[in-house]
Amino acid sequence: MRMYDIIMKKRNGGELTTEEINYFIEEYTKGNIPDYQVSALMMAIYFQKMNKRETADLTKAMVNSGVTIDLSDIKGVKVDKHSTGGVGDTTTLILGPIVAAAGVPVAKMSGRGLGHTGGTIDKLESFKGFSVEMTREQFVNNVNDKKIAIGGQTADLAPADKKLYALRDVTATVDNISLIASSIMSKKIAAGADAIVLDVKTGSGAFMKEEEASFELAKEMVDIGNNVGRNTVAVVTDMDQPLGFAVGNALEVKEAIDTLKGEGPVDLTELCLTLGSHMLVLGGQAESVEEARKILEDIISSGKGLAKLRELVEAQGGDPSYVDNPSLLPKASIEQPVIAAKEGYIKSIKADDIGKAALVLGAGRETKESEIDLSVGIVLHKKIGDYVKEGEAIATIHANSEEKQKTAEEMILSAYEIVSEEVKKNKLIKGIVTKDGIKTF
Ligand code: URA
Ligand code: CA
Repeated sequence: MRMYDIIMKKRNGGELTTEEINYFIEEYTKGNIPDYQVSALMMAIYFQKMNKRETADLTKAMVNSGVTIDLSDIKGVKVDKHSTGGVGDTTTLILGPIVAAAGVPVAKMSGRGLGHTGGTIDKLESFKGFSVEMTREQFVNNVNDKKIAIGGQTADLAPADKKLYALRDVTATVDNISLIASSIMSKKIAAGADAIVLDVKTGSGAFMKEEEASFELAKEMVDIGNNVGRNTVAVVTDMDQPLGFAVGNALEVKEAIDTLKGEGPVDLTELCLTLGSHMLVLGGQAESVEEARKILEDIISSGKGLAKLRELVEAQGGDPSYVDNPSLLPKASIEQPVIAAKEGYIKSIKADDIGKAALVLGAGRETKESEIDLSVGIVLHKKIGDYVKEGEAIATIHANSEEKQKTAEEMILSAYEIVSEEVKKNKLIKGIVTKDGIKTF
């Protein structure tokens, strides 16, 4: 088999065979095919697309390029959740505890990664002493005993995807549905869960800006999952503005604690109840999403969700008193309100720009080597549809440098669009995609 022929076949609109897909993934992973040939193939796929069979084959080939995690020594149906990424997305810190409290085992392997804020592990390190260092045996025991553990991503999952994704990133070939779907699903499948709930974001703060394309991506991923025997459901949700109010690490932990107390932002609470309900159904802990939702609402109002967070923090060496006393969490030295330039209704908030402002403050990593400042970030006070009076604050900046605070302030002001006519609030849940089809709301 020759890579040249595979490139030409796809360039001319042909369908790649399973053998051809396996060949290029195996050989590329081993370093036997140069980046320039794989770049050409990615561009050919970008224009000529792949059908469902090719996409499923590509996913399986990437899963098989590295190790796969075996979670069979953990009792029960393991349900994983994946979000395609947004700004201020604190859901794991809330979903993990409430779903675990309902009896679904949460065996989460999280990364740190690049982004506007840190990942789940960085956020959890806001609890003094919290660590993801543990043996595999400890991890399994914690999930079996407490239904939840958060570990670091040590294994080399889907190494072919790692190479391909990096290459696509610099060759303008990321935004192809088949390539994104296979990339995300290969990592999820390799991570070993029995069932998967996907949160596919749509809007200005998501990498899929158009709703139609987001549903298409959701359907593709659901089909791949079900194809390989993982019960998969996707929820398409709004990312036209940041989720909740807080964007930062310790600030999002505080927001998660509020939400577990039933005092969180409406949108964040709704998203967690929706995703969590599907996790309970897939995990066999509820017959219907309606029943599941009642169970989760009860877990929040009874304080069982908050108790589960306390248990998780303590089990992994963190100081659980922070859960009851969030003022102990890392705190920035400067707290500065951002004052609206004029009066009116909030028409839009560029989620990406709010994320970049958080990054400027030091909440995230620009490169793998960057240090994260857990204390900094932004708390929004106004969301789309809200009314703001002249002189009223639209947000508060938490910073440790006056210069960065000033830069972030300008970015936040220009991210907000304020108009005089009334604005309708955004619908958060756009639709649900299952193997039976798409349901839009
Ligand atoms: N996230 C991924 O992991 N892969 C993609 O291709 C796009 C987003
Ligand atoms: Ca948030």
